[in-house]
Amino acid sequence: HEEATKVKNINRIAIGKYEMNTWYFSPFPKEYANCDTLYWCEYDLAYFARREHLERYVRTRCKRRHPPGDEIFRQGEMAVYEIDSRVERVFCENLCLLAKLFLDHKTLYFDVQPFLFYAICTCDDQGAHIVGYFSKERVSAEDYNLACILTLPCYQRRGYGKFMISISYELSKREKKLGTPERPLSDLGLVSYRSYWATKMLEILCKHKGTISIQELSDMTFFRPEDIISTLQALDLLKYFGGQHSIYVSPKMVEQYVNKKDNSPPVDPARLQWTPHS
Ligand code: COA
Ligand code: NA
Repeated sequence: HEEATKVKNINRIAIGKYEMNTWYFSPFPKEYANCDTLYWCEYDLAYFARREHLERYVRTRCKRRHPPGDEIFRQGEMAVYEIDSRVERVFCENLCLLAKLFLDHKTLYFDVQPFLFYAICTCDDQGAHIVGYFSKERVSAEDYNLACILTLPCYQRRGYGKFMISISYELSKREKKLGTPERPLSDLGLVSYRSYWATKMLEILCKHKGTISIQELSDMTFFRPEDIISTLQALDLLKYFGGQHSIYVSPKMVEQYVNKKDNSPPVDPARLQWTPHS
């Protein structure tokens, strides 16, 4: 893909109270090509070449204090907004431009129409501050339940990636369809999924008495059997005994799981106000 290999153009972004360096090229309109830093409205994702322009915009024009769309989840300080790209095209296009600054490995579709967008926010008395997002095809022939995922670098490694993955599987449960992320995954995408799948499966396996099949694990989690098997293999939990494959969870594994701190915000499925679209 030609654009992905172009030289990084925008060096930094300012959004909310954070400033951060960018990672990759993103195809902003020509007028912005020579900007070192872009200044973003954290609520509607309008962006500006100069801080004064953003400040004037926020003072005079932008009255919103959260992303557009429907709030579909709220628990503690976390909120999730579902944004329909057919209704909020510019917001979704700007979100893709922002995301591309941190995504290298695959084509990001700037035709946003086929996707729904889920913005993840932390809320305080000022408003709902965007932390990251994931996108999802309206209809996926391949059972993809997530297309792109991004945690803004200033919020990374605090469990928000796993929070978003959790929400994506809760949507799959409501749809009564197994789900899997679109491939290829980036390195960071893959570590996040591996960690998420492993944690959820160990949670089940540590509580479970007696035998359990891959199919049963899949029914409980809505993970595809392939993803379950690859996770079990990565954890070295698949053993071949007496002519058949079994899952063997060692006491050491159990201990590791029990001692692992989960920094991810909790997801109570009852807090999800959402029904499938079609
Ligand atoms: N190096 C090593 N491990 C990392 C890591 C890093 N830079 N970033 C995250 N991880 C690990 C975490 O330690 C955690 O594993 P653990 O629970 O076993 O400790 C797991 O990945 C998930 O971390 P979490 O904090 O929930 O994720 P995040 O909020 O940092 O977001 C991404 C993860 C993938 C969304 C984020 O890295 C990102 O936006 N990357 C750029 C865009 C991208 O590549 N998206 C994926 C496209 S498929
Ligand atoms: Na990360």
